[in-house]
Parts: sequence; C-alpha cells; structure tokens
Amino acid sequence: MTWMVTGGAGYIGAHVVRALINADMAAVIVDDLSSGLKRFVPDGVPFVQADILDKDALVQAMTAHGITGVIHVAGFKYAGVSVQRPLHTYTQNVTGTVSLLEAMHDCGIDQIVFSSSAAVFGTPHVDQVTETTAKEPLSPYGESKLIGEWLLRDQAHAVGLRHTSLRYFNVVGCGDPTIYDTSPHNLFPRVFEALVAGVVPTINGNDYPTPDGTNVRDYVHVADIAAAHVAAAKRLESKNTIEPAYNLGSGDGLSVSEIMRAVAKVTGIPFSPQIAERRVGDPPRIVANGDLAARDLDWKMRHTAEEMVRSAWEARLRAENNRHDNGSAE
Ligand SMILES: NC(=O)c1ccc[n+]([C@@H]2O[C@H](COP(=O)([O-])OP(=O)(O)OC[C@H]3O[C@@H](n4cnc5c(N)ncnc54)[C@H](O)[C@@H]3O)[C@@H](O)[C@H]2O)c1
Repeated sequence: MTWMVTGGAGYIGAHVVRALINADMAAVIVDDLSSGLKRFVPDGVPFVQADILDKDALVQAMTAHGITGVIHVAGFKYAGVSVQRPLHTYTQNVTGTVSLLEAMHDCGIDQIVFSSSAAVFGTPHVDQVTETTAKEPLSPYGESKLIGEWLLRDQAHAVGLRHTSLRYFNVVGCGDPTIYDTSPHNLFPRVFEALVAGVVPTINGNDYPTPDGTNVRDYVHVADIAAAHVAAAKRLESKNTIEPAYNLGSGDGLSVSEIMRAVAKVTGIPFSPQIAERRVGDPPRIVANGDLAARDLDWKMRHTAEEMVRSAWEARLRAENNRHDNGSAE
C-alpha cells in the first residue's frame, strides 16, 4: 500500500508524511510548492512537484508510484483572503479536488482521506460542535471545504469511493523541529513574527462575549492531527467502516489571552498584546467534540497547550537561526 499525500510539503502534510513513515507506511508527496517548502520533504520520500489541477501529472505520478490511496491535504487555506479571492479559492479547493478524484478514478484508486476544516460550520451556536451540527460556512474557503466533502460523498455513491473527511480546528505546534507553520495569517506565526522582530504582537478584539473578552478556539497539536490521518488510512486499508467526517477537536477551548500568557511564559518575553479591531466573520467561540474520532481513530490530545506553544516557538527560532546562518531569507 502506498499513500499519495497532496500538499505533503506544507505544514500539516509534512507532519502527515512523517507519521506515515513512522507507522511503516509508504508515502509519495505531490506538491506544487505554492506555499510548501521543498526542505519539509523528508529524505527518501519520493517528491513530485505538480499542481493537483494537472490531472495528467497526477495520473502519471499515481501510475509510476503504484499509489493505492490518497491523503488530500493540498489546499488554499486562508479564510479571510478567500473573501477577496473566491475564484482562486474555488479553483484550488474545488476544481483541484475534482481533478484529483478524476485521476484517482482513472487509476482505479478508491480510498481517500480529505483535509476539511472547522470553517464548514461557520458560527455554530452550540457549546460543542459535533459532526451533525449544521454546516453554515461563512467564507468561500469554508464553502469550498464543504463542497470538497460533498464531492467525496457523491463519488462514493457513483463509483464506490471509500472516504473520510477530517475537520481540523486550530492546528498549532510542531512535531518535528524542522517544520513550522509558514502562514502569515494564523495566530501563532503572527505572534512569533512580531516577537522575533521585537514588536508587540497584536490580537483582534477583546470585547467578545467570552469570559476574558478574547475569542476561544479549539487548539490541537499538529502531531496529534497527523496521527489521526494514519489511523484513518489504516481503517480504509483494512476495509473497516468509517464515518464520512470526523471533528478533530479537543472538547475544550482556550482563549487568545490564555495563549498569549503561554507564549509570554515559554518565550520569556513579557508583553501585553495590542488590541486591534475584531476580524469580520470571526466567531467568539468554536469548540468541537472529538468523541467520534476518539472511538474510530484513536484520537486524543497527547500534548498540552504549553507543549503546543513551546514546540512551535522552538521550530520558529530554529528557522530564524538558520536564516541568519545562511544569510538569506528562507
Ligand atoms: N492550518 C490549519 O489550522 C488548518 C485548519 C483546517 C484545515 N486546514 C487545511 O489543511 C490543509 C493543509 O494546511 P496547512 O496548514 O498545512 O497549509 P500549507 O499552506 O502549509 O500547506 C498546503 C500545501 O499544499 C500545497 N498546495 C497548495 N495548492 C496546491 C496545488 N494546487 N497543487 C499541489 N499542491 C498544492 C502547498 O504548496 C502546501 O505545501 C489545507 O487544505 C487547509 O485548508 C488547515
């Protein structure tokens, strides 16, 4: 069995690839390096630089490497930017998934794990989001991920595709000190960028209807997320029953202020964040129930909030030191 990981040179995909290797499962990476980095590809793992929109390149890679299943992580992940760039978002996340499913069908590959997102829920008015909570995405990004889930469902009806979608909430931390989140928009990288530059970090809004006024999110460690992909892939391989979607949430939330305190503790840099305007469409609180994933995918939080912050900070500092050593931008 060999798993193709699309987006395997990105933050989450690179962790998924390492988790597969650690589980003695063969992996092949397909990535166009639009946001991923070649040096996130581990030694010895075949790497195909290709755009998932290029179906012929996918068919060629699937055939050449004897692919038996796909973990589809590649995507355009910026919900805020997607409002300004809806067509780009749909092209990458919807047309790209169609192209991948066509290539899989042409090659007779019938199992897929898909990177979905909490964004499919929009602003849920429940204490804990479950798999059946209403899907009311508020951005082209959330819509594109929901359509991705539907594409898998419809291919299952049409041609017997076996599939699951893993909905991530706020993915943070590093399971390998050489990999980090390069996103200019996510909270951890934004705060670390500011601290590395000697600037006071900014957070958005402190007047939300939450206990401390900052918004509450379900932060999960990327290595725990990666492990769930391996469990899902094994479940598909063994032809075990699998749900169409799982929420990879902790059942508990942390506020942005709590994260800021953990960052100050871990970095040893005391700071009080500057408060900027709320971001449009940012819900006060999203926390997910992960019971279904715990039942089927051995899902659990294996890392504390401090470990999430510490591992992410150490990887970021390491990248900064390498940048200085190499005398060039990464
Ligand atoms: N980071 C999060 O908190 C989070 C939360 C929910 C869902 N997700 C989803 O998880 C996936 C991975 O996110 P990430 O944080 O690792 O982002 P990332 O940007 O680090 O990784 C995405 C990877 O996909 C590649 N890619 C993008 N478009 C491609 C294309 N057309 N063809 C081939 N490769 C392409 C990029 O080069 C990159 O390596 C995305 O689909 C994202 O929507 C992420």
